[in-house]
Amino acid sequence: MDAIQQKSILPPGPKPLPVLGNNHSFVRDPLNFLQTLHQTYGPMATIRMADTPSVVLFEPEHIHYVLTENPRNFTSAEFAQGLQEFTGHGLFNLDGDTHRQQRRLVQPAFHRKRVENYADTMRQYTIEMLNTWKAGDRIALDQELQQLTMRIVAKCLFDIDLGLRNSKLGQAFTDILENQPRLLETITKLRIDLPFTDYGKRQRGKRIIDKVIYELIAQRRTEGIDKGDFLSMLLETTEDDKALTDTQIRDHIMTFVAAGHETSSNTLVWAFYLLAQNDPQYQKLYLELQEQLQGQPPTLADLSKTPYTEWVINETLRLYPPAYLIGRRAREEFKLGEYTLPAKTFVLISKWVLHRRPDLWENADTFQPERWRPENAKNIVPWSYIPFGAGPRMCIGMPFAQMEMRLLLATMIQRFKFRIVPGFKMETDPLITLRPKNGLQVILEPVSQA
Ligand code: HEM
Repeated sequence: MDAIQQKSILPPGPKPLPVLGNNHSFVRDPLNFLQTLHQTYGPMATIRMADTPSVVLFEPEHIHYVLTENPRNFTSAEFAQGLQEFTGHGLFNLDGDTHRQQRRLVQPAFHRKRVENYADTMRQYTIEMLNTWKAGDRIALDQELQQLTMRIVAKCLFDIDLGLRNSKLGQAFTDILENQPRLLETITKLRIDLPFTDYGKRQRGKRIIDKVIYELIAQRRTEGIDKGDFLSMLLETTEDDKALTDTQIRDHIMTFVAAGHETSSNTLVWAFYLLAQNDPQYQKLYLELQEQLQGQPPTLADLSKTPYTEWVINETLRLYPPAYLIGRRAREEFKLGEYTLPAKTFVLISKWVLHRRPDLWENADTFQPERWRPENAKNIVPWSYIPFGAGPRMCIGMPFAQMEMRLLLATMIQRFKFRIVPGFKMETDPLITLRPKNGLQVILEPVSQA
C-alpha cells in the first residue's frame, strides 16, 4: 500500500509545503530543524522530503529496534544514493543478501589484529606532517588533517603513498566533497557535466580518482605479488569461485577512502576546537600524555595507558557525530511505540539530537570527557550513544578510526598547543558528514606555553 495514503497513522509533524514538503526547512538548517522537531513532537515526528513521508526517530529503544532488532526490514542503499555516483556498488550502496555477502568478503581487512599493523604508519605520517610546522605558523587544521587521514587510509589499505601535500587525488576528493548536490539539483535531478557546475566538478574529481585506482589495480594484477594489504586481499578474493571484477574492487576502494578519511579528520578538528575552548580539559589531556609518554609519540601499547585521550574522542563524537543522520526505508509495515508505520516509510535517525538530549545526558551541551570514566559511563542510557551506528551495518572501520584518532591526537598535542585564530568563528556544515563550515584556522604555540 502506498505510504502517502496512510497519513493518518503516521506520527505528527510540521505542515509541509506543496511540492517541496519540509525540504526547505530541513536544508536551510538541518540541525536546528531536527532539535525543534524533537522539542515539538517528542519521540518521533513525520516530515516530508518532497512528497515522501519520513519518520524521524529520537528514542533510544526505537533506534535500537530499527538498527539491530529488526534490521532486515530496513534497506539503506537508497539513502546513500548521493554517494553512489562515486562509490558505485560499495557497501553503502548495497542491501540485503548482497550487502551481507560483500561485507563478509571485506571484513577481514578490519580485524583488530590487522588494524593494529597500521599504527606505525599513522604515527609516522603524523610526525612527518608535524615536522613541516613550527611554532607561530597559522594552519588550516581541517585541510591538514584531511590530507593526513587520506594519506593514512591510502597507505594502510592500498599501500600507495600520496605524499605530504597537494596530491592530485586529495584535490579530486576535495572537488567531490565541496561540490555536493544542492537543493535544486536534488529536486530536479538535473545534472550537467560542465566545468563550472557542481556535478561537473564532482565528475572531474571522479575521473581523476578512477584513473589512479584502475591503474593501481592493473599494476597489482601484473605484479602478482601479495603485499598483505587490503587491495591484495580484494584481488585474491573470490565470489562463487570468480575473482572480483576491476569495477567491484574499484567500488570497494572508493567506499573505504570516502568513508575512511573525512569522518576521522572532522572528528579531530572538532576535538581540537573543543579543547581550545575548554582549558581545564586540555590541561588534563596534556598532563596525561606528558606523564605517560614523556614527549614520545605514542605506540599502540601506549593507548591503554592514556584513557583520557580516549574519553576526549568519545566526547567529541557525542557532541559532533560525523555521521549525524542515518537513513533507512522500511520494506514491510512495522510497529514502533503507539504507531503502526506503513511499508516504504523512510526512517531517519538523528544522532545529533540523541547525543544531546538533556533528559539522557547531564549537561548535555557541555564538553565533559570525564563522563566516559568507567564509573560514570556505566550510567549512560543504552542506545543513547551510537557514533558508529549499530547492527549489521555498523561502521566496519570503527577499530581503524578509534586507533587512528587517538594516535593522531596524542602525537599532535605533545608537539604544539593549538590556539584558534582570534575572531575565527566555528560553524557546523551538515552535508553528508558533519563538517566544520569554515574549517578551523589555528596558530601553533610551543607546548611550554600550555
Ligand atoms: C570517526 C570516524 C567514523 C565514524 C564516526 C563512522 C561512522 C559510521 C556510521 C555511523 C556508519 C553506519 C551508517 C549506517 O548505519 O547507515 C558507518 C559505516 C561505514 N563506515 Fe564508518 N565511520 C568512521 C570511520 C570509518 C573508517 C576509518 C572507515 C574505513 C577505513 C569507515 C568505513 C565505513 C564503511 C565501509 C561503512 C559501511 C558499512 C556497511 O554498510 O556495512 N568508517 N560509519
